[in-house]
Amino acid sequence: MYKGQEQARSKPVTVKTLAKMKREGEKIAVLTAYDASFAAVLEAAGVDIILVGDSLGMVIQGRQTTVPVSIDDMIYHSRSVARGCRYPLLMVDMPFMSYSTVEWALTNAARLMQEGSAHMVKLEGDGGLMETVRQLSRNGVPVCAHLGLLPQSIHKLGGYRVQGREESVARQIIDDAQRLQDAGADVALVECIPAELGARLSETLEIPVIGIGAGPGCDAQVLVSYDMLGITLGHRPRFSRNFLEGKGSIQAAVAAYVQAVKQGEFPAPEHCLA
Ligand code: KIV
Repeated sequence: MYKGQEQARSKPVTVKTLAKMKREGEKIAVLTAYDASFAAVLEAAGVDIILVGDSLGMVIQGRQTTVPVSIDDMIYHSRSVARGCRYPLLMVDMPFMSYSTVEWALTNAARLMQEGSAHMVKLEGDGGLMETVRQLSRNGVPVCAHLGLLPQSIHKLGGYRVQGREESVARQIIDDAQRLQDAGADVALVECIPAELGARLSETLEIPVIGIGAGPGCDAQVLVSYDMLGITLGHRPRFSRNFLEGKGSIQAAVAAYVQAVKQGEFPAPEHCLA
């Protein structure tokens, strides 16, 4: 394994750990990483889940969207991250169209776990993913269901906009999340929804809910690490915060993020969407 720093934990984070954290009201800190060095920094700071996000299409590859990211890209970065850490749960995005049929999803999830060392895969969608989630779950694949704003559908959505402002859409998101939970999803992730809906979802679901632009009521928070370090090219989302500002190092910035999430200080009202 890549030589890291002092470890914040001595036991791996599992789906059981996450369920216990939700039960006990302990906030879960999540950040993205795409390589071994960042993974080691995140682990040392006590990040619970490392997400190898397909946001790598933008922040690593310089593309406009996540759509061009391939399964081989995801495996390459996941494997790199896995070499840098031992204890955080390693969640890996299934990229655009890599789960368009149940068979395709099983094949690609197997590759992410066997070649990329993923512990959990993340899929974007709605209740239509139920059969896929059921089959992945039956085959021993832990699943995170990503709802709300779905960046892989950006060309269909026509832009990055807050989702679930209307009560009918909010109800649909809750209903979809419940169906995916019933199908076997272990975690839900919601992106760009009103803070009030993030809190409602976390209260309704038994599984942990990770929020990004979804308010402080979620069980967990995630940010793209390059956004929280203020080095994203172009526009930084309103729901993000530059944790490097006023800190002397990336290590200190990541530690400040973990502390702010654990103490419920991030996201603050100015990072919330209505
Ligand atoms: O790809 C990614 O980094 C993500 C986050 C936006 C949650 O899915």
